[in-house]
Amino acid sequence: MEWKKTMNHYVEMINSALEGSIEIGEKPNAKVMEAMQYSLFAGGKRLRPVLALAVCDLLGKPVERALPYACALEMIHTYSLIHDDLPAMDDDDTRRGKPTNHKVYGEGIAILAGDGLLNLAFETMIHHALTLDESMDGLKAMQTVADASGVNGMIGGQTADLLNEGKKMDEEMLAYIHRHKTGALITASVKAGAYMAGVDEVEATRWEKIGYALGMAFQIQDDLLDIEGDAAEMGKPVGSDERNEKATYPALYGIEKSRQKVDELTKEVLETLKPYGEKADFLRSLTEALVNRRS
Ligand code: IPE
Ligand code: IPE
Ligand code: MG
Ligand code: MG
Ligand code: MG
Repeated sequence: MEWKKTMNHYVEMINSALEGSIEIGEKPNAKVMEAMQYSLFAGGKRLRPVLALAVCDLLGKPVERALPYACALEMIHTYSLIHDDLPAMDDDDTRRGKPTNHKVYGEGIAILAGDGLLNLAFETMIHHALTLDESMDGLKAMQTVADASGVNGMIGGQTADLLNEGKKMDEEMLAYIHRHKTGALITASVKAGAYMAGVDEVEATRWEKIGYALGMAFQIQDDLLDIEGDAAEMGKPVGSDERNEKATYPALYGIEKSRQKVDELTKEVLETLKPYGEKADFLRSLTEALVNRRS
């Protein structure tokens, strides 16, 4: 499968850039850096950074331009997972096939490792943006990532997710949670990739639409896997949502309707990709693989 080769190529680029971003020395901060490295290299799919590179590539610009923003997205995503797994949040013991960060390093260091990754993301982006001749592209990409990660994005979604545990759900709140806790960062990934290719606002908005549909489909599939998946395959527990009485699509609409929703959203992604013709083949294959994934 041709798209898998491209996928591996992007993942290798991302991994080697991420490796270079954490150098553990002898200083008193070594432990937090070790904890950051542990989760960053525990075996994530690298979806968000791959999307950023793929969009920049599709739009005809060198992927190296998008790489620092891609790495930043993976750092922020990884921090969100470390915190998401804490006893005060979802209280999960495995992630990416390994014990969760707090199980290995303790809660204090896990909180700091998350904070460290969040900050490192912004260090990575700003250092790169300032080296560019067109610094504005870098700043727009950075703004996109910042907005998506904060209280009007991912943190807002995680807040609503937490406050709605065990509550009677409604359609609107559930959509808010998914759109923000997961949709925002996936949208920022495609949009940041587009900005690093120098797109105007009209085109950036088209990528935003693709990102939201993909992000929603991705989270609904995640909800389904929490029920139907295999813990060993996924590298994280099943049944976490039911135990925490989370607001999920299957809990509100049932499994069949949730699958239908994933299909509808997938169609929307593929429809919006149409104008890009065969240049979008990689993203088409990636979309199909994500909504049919087992992990
Ligand atoms: C898990 O994200 C958390 C969600 C937002 C659903 P991923 O499924 O992308 O996790 P990794 O990065 O592959 O571990
Ligand atoms: C997490 O959603 C979204 C984040 C921002 C971390 P979940 O709580 O469903 O993610 P998993 O299932 O633990 O990976
Ligand atoms: Mg959660
Ligand atoms: Mg969780
Ligand atoms: Mg989940």
